[in-house]
Amino acid sequence: MTATLPELAPVVPQLPDVCAPPRVPLVTGGSVRYANLDLAASAPPLRAVADHVAELLPYYASVHRGAGYSSQVSTGVLERARTCVGRFLGARADDVVVFTRNTTDALNLLAGAVPGPVLCLDAEHHANLLPWLAGPHRVLPTAPTLAETLDALRDALAASPYALVTVTGAGNVTGELPPLAEIAGIAHAAGARLAVDAAQLAPHRRIDLAATGIDYLALSGHKLYAPYGAGVLVGRRDWLDAAPPHLAGGGAVGAVSFSGGEPDIGWAAAPQRHEGGTPNVLGAAALAEACRALDPVIDHAAPAHERALLTRLLDGLAAVPGAHPLRTWADTTDRVGVVAFTVDGHPAGRVAAYLSAEHGIGVRDGKFCAHPLVDRLTGSSDGGAVRASLGLGTTAEDVDRLLTALHGLTRRGPRWRYGVVDGRWAPTPDPRDLDPLRLGDGGTTGTRSACA
Ligand SMILES: Cc1ncc(COP(=O)(O)O)c(C=O)c1O
Repeated sequence: MTATLPELAPVVPQLPDVCAPPRVPLVTGGSVRYANLDLAASAPPLRAVADHVAELLPYYASVHRGAGYSSQVSTGVLERARTCVGRFLGARADDVVVFTRNTTDALNLLAGAVPGPVLCLDAEHHANLLPWLAGPHRVLPTAPTLAETLDALRDALAASPYALVTVTGAGNVTGELPPLAEIAGIAHAAGARLAVDAAQLAPHRRIDLAATGIDYLALSGHKLYAPYGAGVLVGRRDWLDAAPPHLAGGGAVGAVSFSGGEPDIGWAAAPQRHEGGTPNVLGAAALAEACRALDPVIDHAAPAHERALLTRLLDGLAAVPGAHPLRTWADTTDRVGVVAFTVDGHPAGRVAAYLSAEHGIGVRDGKFCAHPLVDRLTGSSDGGAVRASLGLGTTAEDVDRLLTALHGLTRRGPRWRYGVVDGRWAPTPDPRDLDPLRLGDGGTTGTRSACA
C-alpha cells in the first residue's frame, strides 16, 4: 500500500531585492522614502547586481588584450556574461550576443547591418523609429485595433518585399504587448526577419528568441536593474558578420597592414566586429548578473507581483476624476506595468513636479520619446502625459501614495506654487537640497574636491 503524500505548497521564489530607495525631501518640509514609479525610464540596480560589480572591481582590467591575471579574469567575465545573457534570452546556438551601450545603440547597429528595406510601426519609441525614417524603409500607421494593425502588416508585406519587420515588445507609453510569435510568423511567411525592441519587455516577461521566432532583439541593462552602461543586440550571425563594423577600432579587427600601399583590414567576425574599443566589462557583468537574478522569477513571481500592483493602479486611476489612461489598441488584453495618463485641467509637467515636490514620487512626463504616438493618443501636440511604471521593488504603498496624491490634486489643487523654469515645470521656489552628495558646482566647490 502506498502512503498518501501530503500536498506540497507551491514554492514561490522570493523576488530579488532592489537597492533601497533613498529618503527624499519635500517642499512642504520633512522627507519620505522615495516612491520610484519611473522604472521604465531607468531602474536602480538589484542588490545582487551591485554586490557582483563590487566583487569584480578588484579584478577589473582591460579584456582581450592582457596576459595579466586580472585581464584574464576580466576576459572570462565578459565572455561568460555573453553566454549568460544569450541563455536568459533563449538565443539559438549560432546567435551572436553583441554588447552595446543600450537599446538605441543596438538598434542603430542593426540598422547598419540590415541588407534591405525595413517595416516598422509609427507607435515605436524613437530608438526603433528614427533609424528607419531614411532610405528604403517604411513606417506603417498603427490602426485602432491590434487585429487591424496585424492585417495591415500582412498587406504591406504582401505588397512589397522587406528584409526586416521591427516592433516593440512592450510599449513604453501604454505597456501593451503585441503578440510576438504571431508577428514572427507573419514576417517569416513573407520572407522577412523580425527584430524586437525589448527595452520595456525584458524587465517584465520571459523572452525566448528560439521559441518565439524573434531573429534580433535589443535591450538596455539600465532598464533591467543593471545600470552600468551596457545593453545588447542578440541575433542571427549572418547579417552581423557581413555588416560593416559598428565601431571601427581596436578589438574589431584581426589584422591591419599597408603592405600593398592600400590599407588591408581583416575585420573580426561578430561579436568583436561590432565592439570596437575597450569593452564595458562591468556593464556586461552587471547585465549578466541581472539575468541570473531574474531567471527564477521572470516566468511567474515577478509578473504576478506586477499584475497585482497594475490592477491596483488601474482600478485606482478609474476613480480619479478626469484621469485618462492611454492605450494604443482597443483589443489588447495583456500589458506590463507601464501606464501613461492625462489629468483634465492639469498639465502633465506640473502633475509630475507636484508628485515629486509634495509626495516624493518619481514619475516621467512628456512624450516619452514616442512623439507621434503620444500626440495621437492625447489628441494634442503639446503637453504629453504622465507615466507611472512599476516593477521589482514597487510596493502597494507606492501605488497608493500616487493615487492619494492624484485625488488631492484633483480635489484641492497643489499646495505649493509651480512655474516653468528652463522649459520644465518646477516648484517655485524649490527649497529642497538637490545636491545631497555635496558635489558643489561639479568643480572644486563641493565638500568633496576630488577634481582639485
Ligand atoms: C521601448 C523603448 N525602446 C528603446 C528605448 C531606448 O532605450 P535606451 O535609452 O536605453 O537606448 C526606450 C527607452 O525608454 C524604450 O522605452
